[in-house]
Amino acid sequence: MHIRVVTSQPWDIEADLLALPIVADHEPDDTATELDRRIEGALAAYRALGEQAGKAHAGTIIRGRETAAPWLLAMGVGDLAAFDRIAALRFGAAVERRLGGRVVRRLAIWLPATLAGGDGLDAEILAELVARGVVEGSYEPAAIYRDDVEDAPPALDEVVLVVPGGDDQALTAAADRGRVIGEGANRARTLSQRASNDVSPEVLADEATAIAHAHGLEVEVIGPEQAAAMGMGMFLAVGRGSDSPPRFIVMRSGATGATDRRGRLLAMVGKGVTFDSGGLSLKPSDRMEEMKMDKAGACTVISAIATVAVLAPGLPLLAVAPAVENMPGPHSTRPGDVVRAMNGKVVEIQNTDAEGRLILGDALVYAERQGATHLVDVATLTGAVERAFGKRVTGGFGTPQDWWEEVVASGSRQAERYWQIPLVDEYRKDMDTWYAELGNSSGPEASLVKSGLFLKDFATRPWVHLDIGGSGYLRRATPWAARGATGVTHATLVELALRGA
Ligand code: BES
Ligand code: ZN
Ligand code: MN
Repeated sequence: MHIRVVTSQPWDIEADLLALPIVADHEPDDTATELDRRIEGALAAYRALGEQAGKAHAGTIIRGRETAAPWLLAMGVGDLAAFDRIAALRFGAAVERRLGGRVVRRLAIWLPATLAGGDGLDAEILAELVARGVVEGSYEPAAIYRDDVEDAPPALDEVVLVVPGGDDQALTAAADRGRVIGEGANRARTLSQRASNDVSPEVLADEATAIAHAHGLEVEVIGPEQAAAMGMGMFLAVGRGSDSPPRFIVMRSGATGATDRRGRLLAMVGKGVTFDSGGLSLKPSDRMEEMKMDKAGACTVISAIATVAVLAPGLPLLAVAPAVENMPGPHSTRPGDVVRAMNGKVVEIQNTDAEGRLILGDALVYAERQGATHLVDVATLTGAVERAFGKRVTGGFGTPQDWWEEVVASGSRQAERYWQIPLVDEYRKDMDTWYAELGNSSGPEASLVKSGLFLKDFATRPWVHLDIGGSGYLRRATPWAARGATGVTHATLVELALRGA
């Protein structure tokens, strides 16, 4: 998909369809009034009917008249005061998804200056987020395994953003950045979404290798023998029950030993459980099929390092993705088994279903040994985070506080929401076990806090943990997103890395 920004009037744009935002609480300006005159007052008539009153994500298709585009799509965006970055992203996505099943190849979107007024939005950020929204809106997971998907959002050749009176070069660069970030999110979503009989740890490693080669990145895949030699006892414990052997995936950009402009080497660490049955601590069958997406964190960091390679080639960066399948079987780790982590800590595996923290703990230690100065991990770590925050907020932990805040600031720039959960050290003593220094499960009390405390035992540098157990996938489609993997945190990670460029 190609993105272009033009500064002409919306009615002059040659496109299959022109989308325009309808603000609920705002009178049409001169341009909107002229546009409405050219379609015989349809907008005003619809508003009078209550059909097109600016309700967010409600879209009406209207016949064009004295307009170069034969069709218009009036898309509600809600009240102007509430139009923030998240709303901008969703506006672009809702336009594309409203066109599902329609024949549109060239889509124009009018972005009037009134829209760029609030929430630190300016024309460039608006162009970036709307472009990314269109790309993310075009994502259709049903098409992964099927050729013809009725109602799939249209495959666009070109998106034309109409921004009257702007600096079209700067705006085009911004929109293109949005396109690249959206495509990266979609790559993460497709990988996350693929079935577990299709994507084993080895296939995930092959996919990471192909992505690395296509983007000029170094890649290293560590198998079980080497992992054992390196002392990754927690990582290895999880994959034992499966016929598909574990793979510890590492991707790198930048010269060995190099740091970014801020003297940092950021490591993005992602949980790559290609299927989480729970192991011998077997999960109930209800919704177990969703655990194909327990690799979403790994897919996100694999994609994010490739996205950064497009936007800032050569920027020093690490992506670490431990990949395992968590299965019951004759060789499985048993509840009560005791293993030694890569940092030497003795760990009792009380619950084989709390496997994410085991593979991440070794991965954090590995990343630090590779020279990482700053760590962010992304994981579908708990069901508790979804009960606490639902699908619209990613819960997380971090220390020190300024590192957490930097991650959150990158997230707000990219329209992704976070909420901090406290790392209350007092609970750590409940995690001691009789046999070991640390147990991986400790009952229902403060289980979410303890998931963070467990990981903290394996990080000695600035570290943030993002739990996408809720926000990582949707069970129902929304007007702006397909059902399935959301790609959440990809944009945050890219933004965070680019701050060092
Ligand atoms: N992958 C799951 C967490 C999960 C569950 C994410 C449902 C999204 C939806 C994780 O490995 C897990 O099983 N966590 C346990 C931890 C518990 C055993 C301490 C959980 O959340 O129940
Ligand atoms: Zn899991
Ligand atoms: Mn589990």
